[in-house]
Amino acid sequence: MNLMVIGGGGREHALIKKLRENKNIETIYALPGNGGMTDDAVCTGIGATDLDGIKAFAGENQVDYAVVAPDDPLAMGCVDMLTEMGIPCFGPDRGAAVIEASKVFAKDLMKKYGIPTAEYRVFDDMDEALEYLKTAPIPAVVKADGLALGKGVIIAETREAAEDAVRSMMEEKAFGESGSRIVIEEFLTGPEVSVLSFTDGETVVPMVSSMDHKRALDGDKGLNTGGMGTVAPNPYYTQEIADRCMNEIFLPTIRAMKAEDREFRGCLYFGLMITDKGPKVIEYNCRFGDPETQVVLPLLKTDLLTVMQAVTEGRLSEINVEFADKHACCVVMASGGYPKAYEKGKKITIGEMSEDTYVFVAGARREGEELLTSGGRVLGVTSLGNTLGEAIERAYENVENISFDKAFYRRDIGKKALEAERN
Ligand code: AMP
Ligand code: GLY
Repeated sequence: MNLMVIGGGGREHALIKKLRENKNIETIYALPGNGGMTDDAVCTGIGATDLDGIKAFAGENQVDYAVVAPDDPLAMGCVDMLTEMGIPCFGPDRGAAVIEASKVFAKDLMKKYGIPTAEYRVFDDMDEALEYLKTAPIPAVVKADGLALGKGVIIAETREAAEDAVRSMMEEKAFGESGSRIVIEEFLTGPEVSVLSFTDGETVVPMVSSMDHKRALDGDKGLNTGGMGTVAPNPYYTQEIADRCMNEIFLPTIRAMKAEDREFRGCLYFGLMITDKGPKVIEYNCRFGDPETQVVLPLLKTDLLTVMQAVTEGRLSEINVEFADKHACCVVMASGGYPKAYEKGKKITIGEMSEDTYVFVAGARREGEELLTSGGRVLGVTSLGNTLGEAIERAYENVENISFDKAFYRRDIGKKALEAERN
């Protein structure tokens, strides 16, 4: 059979590599894909948000199943469109994708159904927001309602910074229309855990937990990025926490979505903070996280397509989803300057990679035999190990065998997790 995967980053490369393990799959078309994944997929160059282009491609080619990975096409109704064409899909429809596309929706859902999250207020009037900030607890977290490429969250350490954040979102429209409505919420503290889950709307199967490293520089310094590396499992996610999450967060969320007539089928990502009052939801994503997927999927033992089809067909309860009892570490190699301006077109050299190591390419294009950088996050190197320490060590050894001009990466991916393990 032939598959179509919408998206073109490291997450999509990890999805495609995993799907490839199923020998019934002949061709995987990536829309757009990127030059670093041409061994695994036919990269079409059709943009992930070009719904007309996607529709035309799906109409002209024999496509038996589609995976829609990024948030934008999900929020735009790509799954609705393909389903209407008779192509079964993995991913929520537009109505369910709103759980990520609108932070106000997500917050109100949690409030209505008693799902633990930070206290919050919603504003669509700037003056009211500024008035509220005069007495609001500081630090305050200011969030644009809509999708903002993962950048619509500002943690304001002072009242002035909070006011600036509100003005930049509501007056200067730093995130476009996404900031016409904002959420101001309570600042929570505690370790963060990402849990991706498979759900068909009835059953929810959490995948192995993971830890992202969002800041650009070592020691969690520097600007927020899409994610500079990950480890799995996350040592803060103990069995006790996992049980609480299932009962207090995961099941209540999918039941709430169903009750709201927005049944969620796909990968629901829970961004959690383990506070001293228990686990709370920081954010929902309606999709696989990146680079979380780059550590989670290499640990998946069950055939991914089988799980995905069970999700689509509403029979996830019949499937046993298993993960290897190992550890994974992903180190992202980025272009110097990222997440600000950076140069492109640098030649990437990938040497010998050791066993149990995967290179997931996010931002590269092919020119003849050469692979050239074309994005901020260029690639992720994931290694597995029997211990977290072994996975980290192996990932960094392999990173040493990859080079491009002005490459940079964090040297401390997994360090916090190792320290947590020791305590
Ligand atoms: P998001 O884009 O929603 O993932 O938010 C980016 C990051 O901001 C999260 O990973 C957290 O580290 C942080 N964050 C978001 N909301 C809060 C909050 N209420 N309290 C503390 N940190 C937060
Ligand atoms: N790594 C965080 C995300 O995918 O949103």
